[in-house]
Amino acid sequence: MPEASETAVTEHRYVIPGRVLPEKPIESLDEYLAQGGGDALQIALAIPPEEIIDMVKRSGLRGRGGAGFPTGIKWASLRNDPATIKYLCCNGAEGEPATFKDRMLMRRNPYQLLEGVAIAAYASGAKGSFVALKRRFHTEVKALERARLEMMEYGLLGPVPLELRYGPDSYLFGEERGLLEVIEGRDPLPRIHPPYMQGILADPEHPYPAAVNNVETLSSVPGILRFGPDWFREVGTERSPGTMIFTLVGDVQRPGIYELPLGVTMNQLLYDIGGGPLPGHEFKVVVPGASNPVMIPAHFGTPLDFDATAAIGTGLGSASYTVYDDRTCMVRVAKVFSRFLHIESCGQCVPCKIQSDRITRLLNKIDDGDGEQRDLEEILAACRRVTDGQRCYLSTAESVLIQSLVRIFVGEFAAHLEMGGCPLPGVTDLPKLVDFHEDTGVFDFDMRYPLKRSDWTYEDDPVPGASVLVPGVETAEEEAAGTTSA
Ligand SMILES: Cc1cc2nc3c(=O)[nH]c(=O)nc-3n(C[C@H](O)[C@H](O)[C@H](O)COP(=O)(O)O)c2cc1C
Ligand code: SF4
Repeated sequence: MPEASETAVTEHRYVIPGRVLPEKPIESLDEYLAQGGGDALQIALAIPPEEIIDMVKRSGLRGRGGAGFPTGIKWASLRNDPATIKYLCCNGAEGEPATFKDRMLMRRNPYQLLEGVAIAAYASGAKGSFVALKRRFHTEVKALERARLEMMEYGLLGPVPLELRYGPDSYLFGEERGLLEVIEGRDPLPRIHPPYMQGILADPEHPYPAAVNNVETLSSVPGILRFGPDWFREVGTERSPGTMIFTLVGDVQRPGIYELPLGVTMNQLLYDIGGGPLPGHEFKVVVPGASNPVMIPAHFGTPLDFDATAAIGTGLGSASYTVYDDRTCMVRVAKVFSRFLHIESCGQCVPCKIQSDRITRLLNKIDDGDGEQRDLEEILAACRRVTDGQRCYLSTAESVLIQSLVRIFVGEFAAHLEMGGCPLPGVTDLPKLVDFHEDTGVFDFDMRYPLKRSDWTYEDDPVPGASVLVPGVETAEEEAAGTTSA
């Protein structure tokens, strides 16, 4: 149970209309304009770009894509780069397990996002801008295409051209260097250099830089311009100001998508917002996305902000949480997340693909009841090797997430070895979300995912190997056939 000293939070108390996520979808440009939409861009175009960047810096806005990098500093570095050609890219490729915040923002208010992109591109001196998202996000693609055309027609996108780009259903599409590859028409294989060194159209002769920002980050920008940096700082903490959109999935009474001030505790999220555990059960573990060490009840008093989560050895990530209760086997949780990271690894760095495969196989062996003590030691050793020569953070995710489960639940792993099997039978699905039903609060999981293989083909592809990088789930009908509700 939460500490008695913690103040109860409710979502409506904090969600100031117009902050980031509107309570219901904005259906038309007229509706957006009637609510003051478009004002932020007018304000931005009337002041020097440096002043816009200064406002964003003073707001303390930090990236909502996972790393929490200060947005104003990112824009200033692009603006100050002497290159003649630069680009601003919006990352709408949302693929972290248990995350649905960016799709909610693109659905409910595509205008706000595009206005944020227009302001960011203008402020950072970009020559062009892109919003990149998965082509399987049919609802969001439609919403953005329509909003872009409407806003272009009325001259509401500012002076920098803005294009939409679509890509495959790969986790690495969301990694910023993979995203730039997709924008340039290639597969999402992260390149060596970061965006500030190698952006769009860049080669060694022309090191044109780019900046990549998350959908939620850019959706926060119009509010900062309209209402000012202090308004943004009204909620949140000193070093993590503003709200964040939390996705809560799994064994909790009210799973859903909630905009809350940064700094609420996990207890407040789980009990006040999520309604507590399911009747007769207790929370056992919370998995943040798929990129950070897990949190257990001893951590639930931690404020959910960038620094406090780092201080207990985990991270805020994209504020997405899968909750498991006392019925869940931790070997199986480790197995589904390790498999996900292994499948999604691109293999450009051999230890990442090979060691994540080894870890997944050893976890399977333990789950099947064939494990030995040395398998546990081998898993921990592989967790240390998996990051060797890494180009991106995916292999770190495998390392820290799996190590945290093995170390915290060492007794449960040992019980599997002693009993020759699992004391907690049951199925654990990967929370790869494909839809959210706002009326019922139900998420759809991607039930086709178990068929995805480590070369990114699917077992049920009609033509073997045909759907590499552009998996077969391309139409709404196919997508519907491959999902289930949870
Ligand atoms: C494997 C991997 C997947 C990622 N997926 C996403 C994603 O889906 N969306 C996102 O915005 N950032 C994602 N990121 C983080 C991006 O690389 C990048 O840091 C972010 O888009 C920067 O935007 P921000 O500064 O606004 O947070 C991912 C990173 C890694 C390593
Ligand atoms: S660390 Fe893994 S996912 Fe990232 S580039 Fe290397 S092989 Fe690919």
